[in-house]
Amino acid sequence: MTVDKPSASWDPDSAHPTSDRVAIDVHLGPGELDRALRRDVETGLTSEPKELPPKWFYDEQGSALFDKITRLDEYYQTEAERSILANRASELIATVQADTIVELGSGTSDKTRTVLDEATSTGSLKRFIPFDVSEEFLRHAAHMLAARYPRLEVHGVVGDFDRHLTEIPTGGRRLIMLLGGTIGNYPPAERRRFLSEIVSGMRPGDHFLVGVDVVKDPARIELAYNDPAGVTEAFNKNVLGVINRNLRANFDLDAFSHIAYFDPEHEWIEILLQSDQDQRVTVAELDLEVEFYTGERMRTEISAKFRQDRFENELIDVGLKPVAWWADANGDFAVSLAARPLAEPAT
Ligand code: SAH
Ligand code: TRP
Repeated sequence: MTVDKPSASWDPDSAHPTSDRVAIDVHLGPGELDRALRRDVETGLTSEPKELPPKWFYDEQGSALFDKITRLDEYYQTEAERSILANRASELIATVQADTIVELGSGTSDKTRTVLDEATSTGSLKRFIPFDVSEEFLRHAAHMLAARYPRLEVHGVVGDFDRHLTEIPTGGRRLIMLLGGTIGNYPPAERRRFLSEIVSGMRPGDHFLVGVDVVKDPARIELAYNDPAGVTEAFNKNVLGVINRNLRANFDLDAFSHIAYFDPEHEWIEILLQSDQDQRVTVAELDLEVEFYTGERMRTEISAKFRQDRFENELIDVGLKPVAWWADANGDFAVSLAARPLAEPAT
């Protein structure tokens, strides 16, 4: 564990300087990130059809673009989720009685402040553990939160959901949060595996809070992923920029189109990059040449939309007990609270 010393930080409580309360564990240092990116790009670009895993969207530029997405009018999810958290924070904190909050895929932890405000003022919260692949954003958020909450310990973990959940510090009575509809970015089989992993790190009495986008008018969902200002397009294409910058590839971002449409059978948004021409791309670091034909589509993400009964059944399937389902006033988005039960139910 490394103790992080910010160069300068505002601290309202000099008895508990922020630098003493922030620690960041890095499980995805530059070498590890590079190896994982090489593996994923090599596999993804040589598969049929081609595919790129979504975690590579989130380098510093990508995280900044995502933050812009959350402020678009068309992207209703963020404000809907924020209003649910604001309305339910006191009920949530009274129910979960947590001394530790873990946030998976924390990003800027912006909405999380609603929950932390409540948990630090009326609850007995001692520790906040943000977990994300995006190191710069995580560090920034960790220091901001330590400054805002003068008694809170902030222990950040830079890691990958698929490999480092077991590195999350243990102990305490926990609330684990996964906001922003991120659970919907996993296809069903991987989602079940991911949820099971989360549950295996929970002790009886711990809670899980997860934000999900809800099935609704496809036109509204599609607009959220096709904003006219083109921020989502830039975010989607940034994954090609990440490969260019890190693996010396020569993707021409203007020779690909951003595509996002609702697949009614699976009830998810398909997010793709489509080649506008026949072209050959070189990934110098991998000694790899890849051909794209005109109209060829490469998946970069899915974003599943949920219905209460089906989602709660998925929670039950991994051993959780649904406790609450909170929707916003429009019924656009929902936050689901579940508990790891005290005793295993008899079979
Ligand atoms: N919680 C924020 C951000 C959601 S975007 C919100 O609600 O607005 C998804 C977040 O998950 C990003 O911050 C991204 O960096 C992180 N993320 C994506 N894939 C990840 C992975 N495999 N492991 C860890 N973090 C990941
Ligand atoms: N978790 C977000 C979502 O599913 C991620 C996201 C938003 C996203 N917009 C995107 C991913 C555009 C890829 C492309 O809504």
